[in-house]
Amino acid sequence: MHQQSPIGVFDSGYGGLTILKELVKQLPQYDYLYLGDNARAPYGTRSFETVYQYTLEAVQWFFNQGCELVVLACNTASAKALRTIQQKDLAQFGPSKRVLGVIRPTAEVIGRFSESGQLGVLATKGTVISESYLLEIAHFFPDMTVFQQACPMWVPLIENGEHEGAGADYFVKDSLDQLMSQSPAIDTVLLACTHYPLLIPKIEAQLPKHIQVVSQGEIVAQSLANYLERHPAMADHCSKNGHIRFCTTDSTTDFDEKGAIFFGKSLKSEHILLGH
Ligand code: DGL
Repeated sequence: MHQQSPIGVFDSGYGGLTILKELVKQLPQYDYLYLGDNARAPYGTRSFETVYQYTLEAVQWFFNQGCELVVLACNTASAKALRTIQQKDLAQFGPSKRVLGVIRPTAEVIGRFSESGQLGVLATKGTVISESYLLEIAHFFPDMTVFQQACPMWVPLIENGEHEGAGADYFVKDSLDQLMSQSPAIDTVLLACTHYPLLIPKIEAQLPKHIQVVSQGEIVAQSLANYLERHPAMADHCSKNGHIRFCTTDSTTDFDEKGAIFFGKSLKSEHILLGH
């Protein structure tokens, strides 16, 4: 029997579920294997070396599960680990294995959203420091000016289920004020962290009405659909039973409860260990 080969979707925790939700919407025929490294989240404040090590362990786990294609649905892992994994580690896993990220597909299209050419990027500290968005966007849209703002309190608030609470208002306003003080001409704000879509109502309430808030789910799903069209051998290899399996490195009870908020549907997870 042909081994099942789901598309692997990885995040430090729950955020990647906002991407998976769109992947399933646009490409429902495929099987997916989601892994949240909740036991070691957040990644956003960790060093390059640590994020690389953790992400590599996850990628290895996906390949051991039969995946051929893995999407790092986490900007921090994409910024800090993807290039090294692609250039240094991938060859040892086999010639047909692929790992994709979320930064490049976003950078490829983000210029189309802005009229002023002034873009605000909200992300974790790790993503901001990596300057990955500055480099990638300059490549595709050299005339665009990009202003970055780290929002270190946002992921902890979201992971703790406080994203709808009054406490979140303060931190959302604080980070947005800092972003907008860099340039009043910003007309597009990119949520460059897969957790942030949960804060959209508060973000939109704080920003002037003419500013467009862009999240990555649809962009990444469209890009994956294009990728699979351009790579028919990979598309053929990925199994298609419309099945989704959810795994977490921490409590399954917590994952099932909080994950449902991100995924927009109830789900049932399994516990796995990484790095053993
Ligand atoms: N969801 C991750 C991202 O897109 C960050 C969460 C974390 O800090 O672990 O960057």
